[in-house]
Amino acid sequence: MTELRFDQWTNLYASRVSKMRSSEIREMMAVTGRPDVISFAGGLPDTRVFPVNQIVEATQRVMLREGPEALQYGTTEGHEPLKRHIVGMMSEWGVDVGIDDLIITDGAQQALEFLGKIFISRNDVIIVEAPSYVGALQAFSGYEPTVVAIPLDGSGMRTDILAERLEELAKLGKQPKFLYTIPNFQNPAGVTLIEERRREIVKLSEIYGFIVIEDDPYGRLRFSGDDVPLLRSMDESVIYLGTFSKIFAPGMRLGWVIAPKAVLEKLILAKQAANLCSSSFVQRVTEEYMSQFDWRQNVEVLIDLYRERRNAMLAALEEFFPEGATWSHPQGGLFIWASLPEGLDSGEMLAEAIREAKVAYLSGRACYVGKGGDNSMRLNFSYCSTETIEEGIKRLGAVIKGQLVLYRSLLKGYSPEPKQGESK
Ligand SMILES: Cc1ncc(COP(=O)(O)O)c(C=O)c1O
Repeated sequence: MTELRFDQWTNLYASRVSKMRSSEIREMMAVTGRPDVISFAGGLPDTRVFPVNQIVEATQRVMLREGPEALQYGTTEGHEPLKRHIVGMMSEWGVDVGIDDLIITDGAQQALEFLGKIFISRNDVIIVEAPSYVGALQAFSGYEPTVVAIPLDGSGMRTDILAERLEELAKLGKQPKFLYTIPNFQNPAGVTLIEERRREIVKLSEIYGFIVIEDDPYGRLRFSGDDVPLLRSMDESVIYLGTFSKIFAPGMRLGWVIAPKAVLEKLILAKQAANLCSSSFVQRVTEEYMSQFDWRQNVEVLIDLYRERRNAMLAALEEFFPEGATWSHPQGGLFIWASLPEGLDSGEMLAEAIREAKVAYLSGRACYVGKGGDNSMRLNFSYCSTETIEEGIKRLGAVIKGQLVLYRSLLKGYSPEPKQGESK
């Protein structure tokens, strides 16, 4: 395809198109897919741990047992045996639901898009964490919301600030539609929302009448510490998003959403309009795998592998990043969030990091709506081997130190005009 230089259809697009954020992740993938670049940019599981042989076997069994039926359209709500399996898993995770309380989606990402569609009219207020998951910001932004971003600290969303903002909004007569949180090993920050704050959020949602969306792709990938109860276990009106991407394989593109019945009805309409149903074939293969093979054992393998890689990254950061840099110490998930010494700009540094050092990361700014994240970066530790992690962080550390020297020399060279009465 020839390169697009000029878009002759600009006047034909719907106005919302101008509000759609391009996903920096997708654009970065093009560069970081190059074999000579060490990429900490994506959020990819390691392909080597996908249970390929078991999937071959599960596929064969499904085809032999169900034949053409497995290739037919399915119901919009999803394949019942798979839903039953999810009900079982949710109960282990402290949430009691029936199969009619959830639908299957094409990954959690599709659920995010649907939630944007059914809840957000132009300029409606929604609440997100700052920083937040780029893909969610992208899904919501197409519906043109006013986004209120609440900062995180090491214990998750700052509920004290949330309470203040809610009061201010109420005074202005504005009711937020929903609050979106990734409570476990947050993407991108790696932090986990503590129980006390989860309860606080649920309480505030009752007071101010907004709905809580709990997006939980990483909750099963815990390396240390104890599970924190899910928000959905505290309140049945919480919308819970789950996915097979991180406990099985993202290429299956399957997730689920648990929601109150009335909301579920709207989601089913959105799903019908979008793609009628998720692949009935893939749902069957996934169900066969989850029910007939030891998927928990495979998750244990993932946990051990990712823990080792997190440790390697933490050690490398300690060794190669300059003084003044800080980073999160996640107890699970896929990401570390690092902040560079004041004055450095991770977005501006990225081109140099890729070009000169052949190492890539996601710049913090992509994870914010509006201002924020200038000196931060998200580093993924699940995809590269421990040796590659060490080499990549070493190279990145050198780029940062080089930038720091440059920044400080510029500062020294800069002498402000003397104020009145001051000598130069
Ligand atoms: C917080 C969060 N939500 C949703 C998704 C999308 O997941 P899925 O593969 O289920 O669409 C991701 C993917 O990385 C994520 O990090």
